[in-house]
Amino acid sequence: LENGLMRTPPMGWLAWERYRCNINCKEDPDNCISEQLFMNMADRLVEDGWRDLGYTYINIDDCWMMPERDEDGILVADPERFPHGIKYLADYVHSRGLKLGIYEDLGNKTCMGYPGSTLDKVVLDAQTFASWEVDMLKLDGCYSSPEDRAQGYPSMSKALNATGRPIAYSCSWPAYDGGLPPEVNYTLLMDICNLWRNYDDIQDSWQSVLTIVDWFTKHQEVLQPMAGPGHWNDPDMLLIGNYGLSFEQAKSQMALWTIFAAPLFMSTDLRTMSAQNMDILQNKLMIEINQDPLGVQGRRILKTQDAIEVYVRPLSRKASAIVFFSRRTDMPYRYHTTLRSLSFTDSLLYEAQDVYTENIISGLTADTNFTVVINPSGVVMWYLYPISGLENPLASKTFL
Ligand code: GLA
Repeated sequence: LENGLMRTPPMGWLAWERYRCNINCKEDPDNCISEQLFMNMADRLVEDGWRDLGYTYINIDDCWMMPERDEDGILVADPERFPHGIKYLADYVHSRGLKLGIYEDLGNKTCMGYPGSTLDKVVLDAQTFASWEVDMLKLDGCYSSPEDRAQGYPSMSKALNATGRPIAYSCSWPAYDGGLPPEVNYTLLMDICNLWRNYDDIQDSWQSVLTIVDWFTKHQEVLQPMAGPGHWNDPDMLLIGNYGLSFEQAKSQMALWTIFAAPLFMSTDLRTMSAQNMDILQNKLMIEINQDPLGVQGRRILKTQDAIEVYVRPLSRKASAIVFFSRRTDMPYRYHTTLRSLSFTDSLLYEAQDVYTENIISGLTADTNFTVVINPSGVVMWYLYPISGLENPLASKTFL
């Protein structure tokens, strides 16, 4: 969507995966969906350095509303959990240099049963969100028909635009229509949405990550060309910091999402994050790659019989990101290869920086044999750049 927003994949925090529809503030005041939770997370985003690295969105998901609209048909935030209302929260978030996202659904009800934006309410709801100075809308698709979606997603896009406020627009449309053409019209989505959920919800497990990676890779011929500045595929939230992923798996999710040019929405308790997980999520070179201005999504380029996969994402300055991913479950695997086998066939001299260890690998030509050691369910990730005659682009690079 050419509304000037999200020229690189959005980054921030989204409540759903970790906090779900926990509305039990009596027993669980620190973890229930409430203005306190969002203000706490906003504070962490600022004070722990996230915002300055690019994690600027703080997004509400389902379960923020009262069970009914008011007498004028306007959506109301639950007054017990959001005593000051959404506008107050938006003001708070803006005062901290962040942006606020909100959630609605195009059906009769949201997935958790709160009032939906039926077609007759789309314009009113867009105006309400704009009057609250919200910066992003995730529009879900539970309890909607294919016809509702075909009409409603474009209507909301128009309605948001008509408010005059720049509001980024996340569409769950494809996820409700199987994620693939001909049911899904990606050319239309590129025009009307800034990002879209293609596939199933992520759950707190490595199996869930693998299922999503498999689906995105299986359909990469269709999906990869759809991503670009202003319009992104969304494989769903990052699990890092929660319960389901090992350290290796956390590094793998981050690396693969970066190859996919995916939105980086954390959904975890920023108040208790370990230093290790913080290092993964705050890796400057990783973020730089995710945010590369070309905005080209990467692809899996090969898969070996030994369960090693290689992914490549083209970057600006003739650089590339390469992820060597092991699906093995035995021991660290020594993968021997050359750049030529990874489709780098030119005669340039290359250097690589390992994104996690920061080691520099120099003197690489297309035919140099090299070995990477990949841990089970882990990755090795390289930032690869040509140096023939050029200075190392990293040396002149100023990180965010
Ligand atoms: C759907 C969406 C999730 C989340 C929930 C909220 O399942 O895909 O991301 O928004 O609804 O109920």
